Amino acid sequence: MVEFIDRRRAPKVQLSPPRRSPAKHADAGNSTNQQVPRTEQTPTDFVSPDFPRKPPAKPLHPPVFRPPAKPTAHATIQLVAPPSPGFIYTRRAGVRCRPLHSHPPPPPPASGPYAAQPTQRARCNSMPPEKAEVFRSLEGWAARSLLPLLKPVEECWQPADFLPDSSSEMFGHEVRELRARAAGLPDEYFVVLVGDMVTEEALPTYQTMINTLDGVRDETGASNCPWAVWTRAWTAEENRHGDILGKYMYLSGRVDMRMVEKTVQYLIGSGMDPGTENNPYLGFVYTSFQERATAVSHGNTARLARAHGDDVLARACGTIAADEKRHETAYGRIVEQLLQLDPEGAVLAVADMMRKRITMPAHLMHDGRDMDLFEHFAAVAQRLGVYTARDYADIVEFLVKRWKLETLESGLSGEGRRARDFVCGLAPRMRRAAERAEDRAKKDEPRMVKFSWIFDREAVV
Ligand SMILES: [Fe+2]
Ligand SMILES: [Fe+2]
Repeated sequence: MVEFIDRRRAPKVQLSPPRRSPAKHADAGNSTNQQVPRTEQTPTDFVSPDFPRKPPAKPLHPPVFRPPAKPTAHATIQLVAPPSPGFIYTRRAGVRCRPLHSHPPPPPPASGPYAAQPTQRARCNSMPPEKAEVFRSLEGWAARSLLPLLKPVEECWQPADFLPDSSSEMFGHEVRELRARAAGLPDEYFVVLVGDMVTEEALPTYQTMINTLDGVRDETGASNCPWAVWTRAWTAEENRHGDILGKYMYLSGRVDMRMVEKTVQYLIGSGMDPGTENNPYLGFVYTSFQERATAVSHGNTARLARAHGDDVLARACGTIAADEKRHETAYGRIVEQLLQLDPEGAVLAVADMMRKRITMPAHLMHDGRDMDLFEHFAAVAQRLGVYTARDYADIVEFLVKRWKLETLESGLSGEGRRARDFVCGLAPRMRRAAERAEDRAKKDEPRMVKFSWIFDREAVV
């Protein structure tokens, strides 16, 4: 059962300076009000030949975050960007960015594997406190079975391994080679690659999300608890993914880096709402699914890069996909342990996350222009076969097999058995729905959408 947040009851927290008229706002940079700088610069501004750039005609100002006065389970946090048009930046799942002045209820979510779903009422700390003991009892297991899945830093690849060496005399030549290879890739490919890179770059959000989970969070920021060690090292491994894709794209000259950088800034500011309720049972089901989804997606961008003649990019994307698989193995093992120690709790968690649908981590993506950027990116990814509704169903089926849910019997109540049966029957139902959606899409006229990431050129969605 999904519900939309009752906005009349949900406290709304304005997280930015009050809106002001454009005329007043234009003077903000010259005034003593340092909260609203005149322009926002992104990293590309500082390496661009025409730095400093002219301020945009209608600057969008950086959000200023202020925490809610009182933590609440149902807080809808809004981020209002002055001056106009006044978007709500932080959307709960399924609530799209929309002007504040528009009154109709949020539109229904788009379909497809990336689709943000209607908001689940935010629940907090849904794991009963006594179950934290399950995770304490697994600390030794985590040290023995999880941490070895991390690679020592000295053995890890780094983005520099795939990129032109800027200290070399051959740098210019290598960049020209990179650009020649990138010239063979279609615009649609870059839309998907940017979307994947932006998703990776919101890594601070994902580390935060994992550290919301009761019983496994990093209590100090440098805790020796195996759960915390894992999370920090996982983050450090993940950090290379967005880094290499961003540097590649910058050198390729194929994307508007400033718009890409703005999208990253918006997304990190918006956060995410995976519906995991501070509950590590839900959290690790979510990460198991997500790691596999990213492995599929990066694997497919590797395949397409190779097909279009960019072998270096293909190797980079394939290497990222291999990391994601290793991470998927780790998170999948945690859920396996939970199924052994607490089969009822674990299978209910799997069913809960599947009922909510797995929300993609970048579902709150925004570039300051396209109100439906995430849906448009997801549609291009679906068309290119990088990540599709069928992939979603395949991942569900894979996890059912991996966790041996079909044969799970002992320790289940009637409710647990119903949850198991629901999950086991999900993939075929999803495939049928995907087929129907594909049939409908074939009858539709192809629709062109402008993407700021590719200099406002159009891509078919
Ligand atoms: Fe990643
Ligand atoms: Fe990952």
